[in-house]
Amino acid sequence: MRRKLAAGNWKMNGTGQALSELADLARAHPDPACDILICPPATLLHRAVQISADNAINVGAQDCHAEASGAHTGDISAEMILDAGARHVILGHSERRQDHGESDAAVCAKAQAALNVGLTAIICLGETLAQRDASATLDIIAGQLSGSVPDAVTGENLVIAYEPIWAIGSGRIPEPAQIGEVHGFLRARLKERFGADISDAVRLLYGGSVKPENAAEIFAVPDVDGALVGGASLKAAEFSPIIAAL
Ligand code: G3H
Repeated sequence: MRRKLAAGNWKMNGTGQALSELADLARAHPDPACDILICPPATLLHRAVQISADNAINVGAQDCHAEASGAHTGDISAEMILDAGARHVILGHSERRQDHGESDAAVCAKAQAALNVGLTAIICLGETLAQRDASATLDIIAGQLSGSVPDAVTGENLVIAYEPIWAIGSGRIPEPAQIGEVHGFLRARLKERFGADISDAVRLLYGGSVKPENAAEIFAVPDVDGALVGGASLKAAEFSPIIAAL
């Protein structure tokens, strides 16, 4: 049985003051029925881990480099994330694919680096609105899944986040049936490639304009094991009801 996961991606938001939201979240969920994960900017990782040390909130990073170390100014390695006390890393978010030209192969190499040190990789994929309108969604998803996920996954160390690009920050979400179609497709493709034991263990998150008002409807969709939440994860008062809906 997969444990549900409510993951918050703070993106490039938050200085030290924002950690009070994390503390509030921890106080509000001392013994949660699902896993809770906050992925703050790298500058806050260590302090976030310290705040979370005595409670049930997990901490993750938003990216890592594919190499273990070296001359890569401004980048952080998977080992550095682990050293900061985090155990998860988001990879291949559409904003990184767009802003930094990350290909599926680049995401796969980063994911391999994360797995090598024992991090759980949260690999993001999703279609543009033009691709959905052209009925190309499943083809796009299939290509991203096969290109971005390394062979070495165990199931427990992989999370897939389906994030339609047109739903991110837009207030628009797909119909529940559309989310269900993609999640069912992802589960089937994972089973084909890795077998039932691994595919049954991988958690599939939906991401894109998840709010307290729509969370229950999204979480009722088969094969949705949680959410990757952007804007609504920044405030404990908004993220809390989403967590409670899982
Ligand atoms: O990683 C999170 C997603 O990009 C969703 O962001 O909840 O602000 O739409 P959003």
